[in-house]
Amino acid sequence: MACQMKKILLLLLVVLLLLNLQHRVDGTQQVPCFFIFGDSLSDNGNNNNLVTMAKANYQPYGIDFPEGPTGRFTNGRNLVDIIAEHLGFNNSIPPFATARGQEILKGVNYASGAAGIRKETGQQQGDRISLDRQLLNHQVTVSNIKNLLGNNESLATAYLNKCIYSVAIGSNDYLNNYFLPQFYPTSRIYNQEQYATVLVQQLSQQLLTLHKLGALKIALFGLGFLGHTPVELTMCRNNSSCVDNIDNAVALFNDKVVTLVNNFNNNLTNAKFIYINTTEISLSSSTSEGSIVTNVPCCEVLKNPQPQTECIPFGTACSNRSQYSFWDAVHPTEVGYVVYGGRAYRAQSPADAYPHDIEHLAQS
Ligand SMILES: *[C@@H]1O[C@H](CO)[C@@H](O)[C@H](O)[C@H]1NC(C)=O
Ligand SMILES: *[C@@H]1O[C@H](CO)[C@@H](O)[C@H](O)[C@H]1NC(C)=O
Ligand SMILES: *[C@@H]1O[C@H](CO)[C@@H](O)[C@H](O)[C@H]1NC(C)=O
Ligand SMILES: *[C@@H]1O[C@H](CO)[C@@H](O)[C@H](O)[C@H]1NC(C)=O
Ligand SMILES: *[C@@H]1O[C@H](CO)[C@@H](O)[C@H](O)[C@H]1NC(C)=O
Ligand SMILES: *[C@@H]1O[C@H](CO)[C@@H](O)[C@H](O)[C@H]1NC(C)=O
Ligand SMILES: *[C@@H]1O[C@H](CO)[C@@H](O)[C@H](O)[C@H]1NC(C)=O
Repeated sequence: MACQMKKILLLLLVVLLLLNLQHRVDGTQQVPCFFIFGDSLSDNGNNNNLVTMAKANYQPYGIDFPEGPTGRFTNGRNLVDIIAEHLGFNNSIPPFATARGQEILKGVNYASGAAGIRKETGQQQGDRISLDRQLLNHQVTVSNIKNLLGNNESLATAYLNKCIYSVAIGSNDYLNNYFLPQFYPTSRIYNQEQYATVLVQQLSQQLLTLHKLGALKIALFGLGFLGHTPVELTMCRNNSSCVDNIDNAVALFNDKVVTLVNNFNNNLTNAKFIYINTTEISLSSSTSEGSIVTNVPCCEVLKNPQPQTECIPFGTACSNRSQYSFWDAVHPTEVGYVVYGGRAYRAQSPADAYPHDIEHLAQS
């Protein structure tokens, strides 16, 4: 019985690999699997059963999503939903919290709202799954995939080598750590340059762990203009030097991530790393959008006594979601994610993705 099952699964694998050969045909799945690491930009339900304020499984979240509120931190599909669609996946990648059985062969989403590169990041909101813990969860998945593939080590490695891995993390290491001095000491220990260095050093170790677990095609997302998120505009009381100070700190991190991508591409044989230039996509899309609202959230968010990031449970939301960049005080609306995910997948300008976009990463 178990042996029969393994044969069926191996057959399924062969079919998947064959489908992979036809990746240039529109509509077919381009890679066998997609693994997702990160924070609330990618989370699709991992925080639902954690004790934390960083949750999105209540209305009005999911107001434009067929299944309603699922734990996605937006009105509709999130960043990785859009990328998975472009990659040809028929269904979204399941969250680690609920993924079971054979579905893990298509990939798993480990992302967790409020999580960071550093393990203490986000703790003032409650529980969250830091990047280190996400990698431990991936280790569990890798061993389950080996089992599913008949404990054939080389077959499992060849399979994992073909997958796309997305890593979009670091925003909380700034917004839910460095720039909350009342909760975290980091801004007293490190200046901005030093903090960017320690973050990228830790990220580099974490990416090496991911690489050891068989990842060869890795997309790293740079951070956006965090100073210009509605929550920080409120905290800064619209003071532009306060806002720019946050954006400048984040730019130091982004520059070092680009260097990391270069170093990995030069030194790790077979591995391909790409950098998604979130600031470039954000700048060039806002100029083309014109009248869109970029400084206030679509849903109702509490500002007192402390500015909050998430929508008020069962609060109101704007009716014309497509005219707003921000859904709540920090997360993009679905239309925002369509732009970010779409251009990460297929670059519209050479600066969008370095050295190339996710479509090329899938084909390489
Ligand atoms: C995805 O759905 C389409 C249309 O329903 C179908 O033709 C295709 O075979 C499906 N692809 C996979 C990989 O399941
Ligand atoms: C593992 O799978 C590969 C590729 O299908 C095959 O060539 C090899 O013989 C298998 N090894 C074992 C120990 O079954
Ligand atoms: C910041 O500016 C926006 C629009 O320009 C305004 O709606 C908001 O009340 C201002 N916030 C503060 C804290 O001054
Ligand atoms: C604006 O912020 C800067 C730096 O954060 C501070 O030095 C300055 O006093 C602030 N200006 C006002 C008008 O609050
Ligand atoms: C990797 O390659 C870069 C050149 O891009 C080099 O400067 C660096 O020292 C190398 N080693 C490591 C461990 O990154
Ligand atoms: C990212 O975009 C900015 C412009 O927004 C550009 O200055 C920078 O060189 C780009 N970075 C890369 C690695 O392409
Ligand atoms: C909603 O937004 C679209 C796109 O910006 C615009 O064309 C339309 O007039 C807006 N509708 C309302 C009711 O504001």
